[in-house]
Amino acid sequence: MLNGKHIILGITGSIAAYKAAMLCRLLVKEGAEVRVIMTPLAKQFITPLTMATLSKHPILVEFFNPENGEWNSHVSLGEWADMLLIAPATANTLAKMTTGIADNLLLTTYLSARSVVAVAPAMDLDMYAHTTTQQNLRTLAERGVEIIEPAAGELASGLVGKGRMAEPEEIVERVREILGGVKKKSLEGKRYIVTAGATIEPIDPVRYITNHSTGKMGYAIAEELARRGAEVKLISGRTALAVPKGVERIDTLTAEDMYNAAVSEWQDADGAVMCAAVADYTPKTVADRKLKKSDDDMRIELRRTKDIARELGASKGNRTLVGFALETDNEEANAEGKLERKNLDFVVLNSLRDEGAGFRGDNNKVTLIDRNGREEHPLMSKKKVAEIIVDKIEKLNNK
Ligand code: C5P
Repeated sequence: MLNGKHIILGITGSIAAYKAAMLCRLLVKEGAEVRVIMTPLAKQFITPLTMATLSKHPILVEFFNPENGEWNSHVSLGEWADMLLIAPATANTLAKMTTGIADNLLLTTYLSARSVVAVAPAMDLDMYAHTTTQQNLRTLAERGVEIIEPAAGELASGLVGKGRMAEPEEIVERVREILGGVKKKSLEGKRYIVTAGATIEPIDPVRYITNHSTGKMGYAIAEELARRGAEVKLISGRTALAVPKGVERIDTLTAEDMYNAAVSEWQDADGAVMCAAVADYTPKTVADRKLKKSDDDMRIELRRTKDIARELGASKGNRTLVGFALETDNEEANAEGKLERKNLDFVVLNSLRDEGAGFRGDNNKVTLIDRNGREEHPLMSKKKVAEIIVDKIEKLNNK
C-alpha cells in the first residue's frame, strides 16, 4: 500500500499519456496523495480536467497562474514529494533532465526534488534505441534515477518494438517497491557471480562460432541481485547491453576466457548463476590468417570446451549454484540430468516452444526444477523471471 505517500506524477507529451489516467487512479486507490504536473505539450494528449478529477487536485503546468500571478513553487513541490514519477517520459524530457534544462515546471521540480525520482520512458522504437537516448538513460540511472523499462510491443507509429510505456499496474508495483524498499537490501553482504551472453570461438581472424544468446536474461538477474544489495560480478560474453546499475562487469570472449574468469571469481563468491550460452566446442586450432576458400568442402575440427557450471559445482560446498537449460526435446529429463551432473541447486528450464520466449525477446517462460520437484511459470518479462529466480536463491540462503 502507498498510504499517505506523496507522489508527484509528471506527464509529458507522449501518446502514452492516456495511460497516466489509469496510473493516477491506481496510485490514489493505493492511498497515495497525487499531484500532477503536466508539460505544456502533455495537455494535447490528455486533458487537465481528466487528470484533476482523478488526482482530486488542480493540475500544475505553468510556473505561475496567469490569472492571478500565484506562484507554483517547484521548490516546495520538490520538498513535499516522497517520489517524483514521470510517466510517460519522452526522449525530449529525458534529454533535458540529463543536461539540466529547466524550461517548464516539471523540469524545475525535477531539479529541486529531494525525493527519489523514477521515469517510465515511452517513445518510438528508433528513438528509444538511439545512442543518445540510451546514453541519457544510463546517465540518469547512474545519478540514481529509477528507470522503469518500457516493454516491447506495437507502438503508436504502427511499428513493433521496444518503447511502449510499462503498464500502469507494473509501474505501481515498482513504485511500491521503491518507496517500500521491500526487497532492496535482503542480499547485503552476499557476493554472486552471473555468467551471461554468448561466447565467441574464433576460427580465423575474421570468422567465429557463436549462438543467438543476447545476454538479456543474465543481465536481468545480475541487476536484480544488485538491487537487493548483493555484490555482483557479471562475467559477460558478447552482448549489446549496458552494464546494470551497481554491477561489475568482466568482459570475456571465448568459453575458455569465461571459464578462467568464473573459476577465479568463484573463490570468494557465495553463489553463482550460470546463464551464459557457452560454446560446447571450439576450433582445435585458430588460423592466424584468413582461411582461403577453394572449390572443395572444408572441415573444421572442434574440441570440447570445459564446462564452467560443472567445475564450480565440484567445489560448491553449501554455496548456491543455479544453472540454465535450453532444450528442444526431452526437456525435463535433460534438465534433471544437469541438476545432478553439475551439482546445481536448481535448473531454470527455458522453453523454445513458446512464442515470445527464449532468445532475443524481453519475455521468457520458465520452469524451475530442483530435487523436490518443479514450478512452472507462465510467459512473463525477463525482469519478472529474474525476480522469481532471485526469490528462490534467497529462500535457499535462509534454509
Ligand atoms: O550442458 P548444457 O550446456 O546444456 O548446460 C547448460 C548450463 O550449463 C547453463 O547453466 C550454462 O551456463 C552452463 N554451462 C557452462 N559451461 C559450459 C556449458 C554450459 O557453464 N561449457
